[in-house]
Amino acid sequence: MSSTGVVGYKTQLARTQGQKKDSKPRRAAASRASERAPQQFWCPDLVSTRDLGPLGVEAILRLAEIMKSCPTDFQETLKGRQMVMFFEKPSLRTRLTFEAGMVSLGGSAMFVDQTHERLDAREKLSDVAHNLERWVDLIVLRTFSQDTIDAMAQHARVPVINALSDLEHPCQALADYLTLIERFGDAKSRCLAYVGDGNNVAHSLLLTAACLGSSIRIATPQGYAPDPQIVADARAIAAETGAEIYLLTDPREAVAGADAVYTDAWTSMGHEKEEDERARIFPPYQVNAELMAEAAPHAVFMHCLPAHRGLEVTDGVMDSPQSVIFEQAENRLHVQKAILYLLLGGGDRLPARSAYV
Ligand code: CP
Repeated sequence: MSSTGVVGYKTQLARTQGQKKDSKPRRAAASRASERAPQQFWCPDLVSTRDLGPLGVEAILRLAEIMKSCPTDFQETLKGRQMVMFFEKPSLRTRLTFEAGMVSLGGSAMFVDQTHERLDAREKLSDVAHNLERWVDLIVLRTFSQDTIDAMAQHARVPVINALSDLEHPCQALADYLTLIERFGDAKSRCLAYVGDGNNVAHSLLLTAACLGSSIRIATPQGYAPDPQIVADARAIAAETGAEIYLLTDPREAVAGADAVYTDAWTSMGHEKEEDERARIFPPYQVNAELMAEAAPHAVFMHCLPAHRGLEVTDGVMDSPQSVIFEQAENRLHVQKAILYLLLGGGDRLPARSAYV
C-alpha cells in the first residue's frame, strides 16, 4: 500500500473517505474530526515516513515534545488498549521504548520473538492479520521485508507501525529530528550530514528531512547510495517544503559546516554475508575526530545505535561532549508514545486537543 505512494499524506483523506474507512472502520470518527479541523493529523498506519508527510511529521514531533514535558497528562489516555509486537530481528531500544511507552499511556504490550522464522512462514500473512485484528488494537512489526509490513497494514483493520524494515526506520528518524529540534530550536535551518551506508535509517532521515524542509547531505560509497525511489519521493516532498537534498560520495564534503554528523552500522541486519567486503570499502566513512573537525564547531554527533565502536565511529567521538546518542535513544520513547497516541485516536479524548496537535 502506502510505501509506494509518492507523498503519502496527500492520500490520507482519500483513504479515510474511501477504502480505508471501510477496512478500518473503528477510526472513521477520527477521519471526520480531521476533516473538521484540518490542522489535525490522522493516519491509519505508519509503514513509511511517506504516510506522514509534512503535516504528520510536524504533528508527531509537536505532540512528542508535549508528552515529554508533561507525561502525567497522558497516563490513562490509552487505558485498556492492547498492542502486539512481532520482531523478526533483535532489538533493545525499539522494543523497550514501545513497551514502556504503551504502558505509560495506560495500555498493555505483548512481544512475540519472531527471530526464528519469518512472520508468514506458518500461514498466509493475511490470515495472521485477520486473527490479530480481532484480539488487539495495534500491531508493531520489525521485519526484513517492507512488503511484510505493507501487507499487514493492507489486511489488518487495526493500525500497523513499522518498527524497522530493510527499507525504512521511520520511528528512529522522528526521534532523531526531535533531538535536533531540542538542541537547535528548529530543523529547517539546520543541515544534517549522514555518512556511511545508504540504508533504512538513511532513507527515513532523508524523508523526514524532506518533510521538515530541512537540509540533508548523504555521503555513501559508490554502490551504496540510498534507494532511488526513496530519493525521488523525498525530492517530491522537498519541492513542496523547500528541503535541500544532496547525495554525495565524499564524506568531508558532506560534513563541511554541518550542524549534525550522523552514521550507522556499515553492515545492517540481514547483510552479514557482506561484512568482510563492506569492512574493506567503508573505512573512509568512519566518523572520527578528524571528520568531526570539518563540521560546524557546535555540531552534534548522532547514531541510532547499536554502534560498532572502532568501525563506523571511534570511541572518542561516541563519548565526546558533542555526542547526543543517548538523547536520541531517550526520544525514541517520547516519539513512539506520540505515534501510538495518534494512531489510536487519542487526540479525540483530549479535553483541549487543539492545544496539543
Ligand atoms: N536504533 C534501534 O532501532 O535500536 P534497536 O535495534 O536496539 O531497536
